[in-house]
Amino acid sequence: MKSIQYLEENKQRFLDELFDLLRIPSVSADSKFKGDVRKAAEYLKANFEKIGADNVEICETPGHPIVYAEKIIDAAKPTVLVYGHYDVQPADPYELWDSPPFEPVIKDERIYARGACDDKGQMYMHVKAFEAMVACNELPCNIKFMIEGEEEVGSDNLGDFVKANTEKLKSDVILISDTSIISNEHPSITVGLKGLSYLEVEVTGPNRDLHSGVYGGGVANPINTLCTMISSLMDETGKVTIPGFYDKVVELTQAEREDLNKAPFSLDAYKNDLGIKAVKGEDGYTTLERVGIRPTLDVNGIWGGYIGEGAKTVLPSKAYAKISTRLVPNQEHTEITELIKNHIESIAPDYVKVKVTPHHGGNPAVTPTDAKGYKAASEAIEKAWGKTPIPTRDGGSIPIVALFSEVLKVDTVLLGMGLDEDAIHSPNESYGLFNYYKGIETIAWFHQYFSK
Ligand code: BES
Ligand code: MN
Ligand code: MN
Repeated sequence: MKSIQYLEENKQRFLDELFDLLRIPSVSADSKFKGDVRKAAEYLKANFEKIGADNVEICETPGHPIVYAEKIIDAAKPTVLVYGHYDVQPADPYELWDSPPFEPVIKDERIYARGACDDKGQMYMHVKAFEAMVACNELPCNIKFMIEGEEEVGSDNLGDFVKANTEKLKSDVILISDTSIISNEHPSITVGLKGLSYLEVEVTGPNRDLHSGVYGGGVANPINTLCTMISSLMDETGKVTIPGFYDKVVELTQAEREDLNKAPFSLDAYKNDLGIKAVKGEDGYTTLERVGIRPTLDVNGIWGGYIGEGAKTVLPSKAYAKISTRLVPNQEHTEITELIKNHIESIAPDYVKVKVTPHHGGNPAVTPTDAKGYKAASEAIEKAWGKTPIPTRDGGSIPIVALFSEVLKVDTVLLGMGLDEDAIHSPNESYGLFNYYKGIETIAWFHQYFSK
């Protein structure tokens, strides 16, 4: 394929352009960056126009815009719809970064910047694979791009956009690079994503902060109460105790579980990497199963009272927590959110007031391994990496994938190239140069195989 040669010749520019995109702090969660989020969209629009895409548009939404582009070469040929996101997670805490998050640098063959892997680096692989195929006259199919700016805040407006544009988004497969592989020695294809239910809890005790000696022992402390409530949400075997939580969970067959556990995985390396002496999770399941196929519950943040320097003897009026659950087939996120909300309200002792506010959520997704898209992805990896990929189930969520299959009725292929060590959402996020370039090559092969 001439596109591979083109990639080789344009390697440095493909990197420079990604750097330009990484320099734009398109943090969707923080309104302070609203203008930068739009700048990132405009950067993409200009690039799509330059490399020969048609009907390039910035589609407005009540939130951040969606970038759309397409190249229709022949109505009789298959159409690939590429989805990705140009927004990034907040970079805080900045002081934990070795170099500024929005000033990308290369160190040890890796690109360091917020969004390097999630998802600017991975999304841009598609843009450059497209450029190469167009420039070399090798685009074998029709292609449509839908790149959004709200993935990291729950894709609130993308659902409406998809529902309103089913004809425009008509395609034969949806292709996404926003997941990870096991390792560069063992490239894999993600076939499962978890769903998500996210809530915030506010516990109110006395009507004002109190002296913890004058009132302590006489009045319930909302932080103590919140901790007791939270710890009751899981038992000592690692099971979530919320009634009904597991009702719809699909248990895998023994054979499916054995398959899943065949993935190369070293518990020692895992523990070492994280600096922990032991793992902890639901009894009766391996780490791969706990992360990939079992629903989980985590407190994402907890606060209240005095957290400044030194000590302040205070019995606070309020306590807060952000709690999320990761869901598996066939749990439905709105149902689970309702269950959790009701349960937390029901266990609130009468000496506090509890308010539960649902945040965003999404449903889990499983993609088929016997579909044309999976086979093309498998062949593409085989060709570019010289290795046969195995299917894996990830613990992360891309809520819109479930909606794609419901509304567009099209299969998704999760052709991600990230690694756990890329530290997405963490300080010092990075993306390997090898994965960036190998990803572009793999994507080019995917289009060839899918179009055959
Ligand atoms: N790209 C990730 C999801 C992901 C990462 C899937 C690694 C599989 C492997 C995505 O950008 C993300 O962070 N999703 C959020 C959910 C969203 C609703 C905020 C997540 O998983 O927390
Ligand atoms: Mn992502
Ligand atoms: Mn993310």
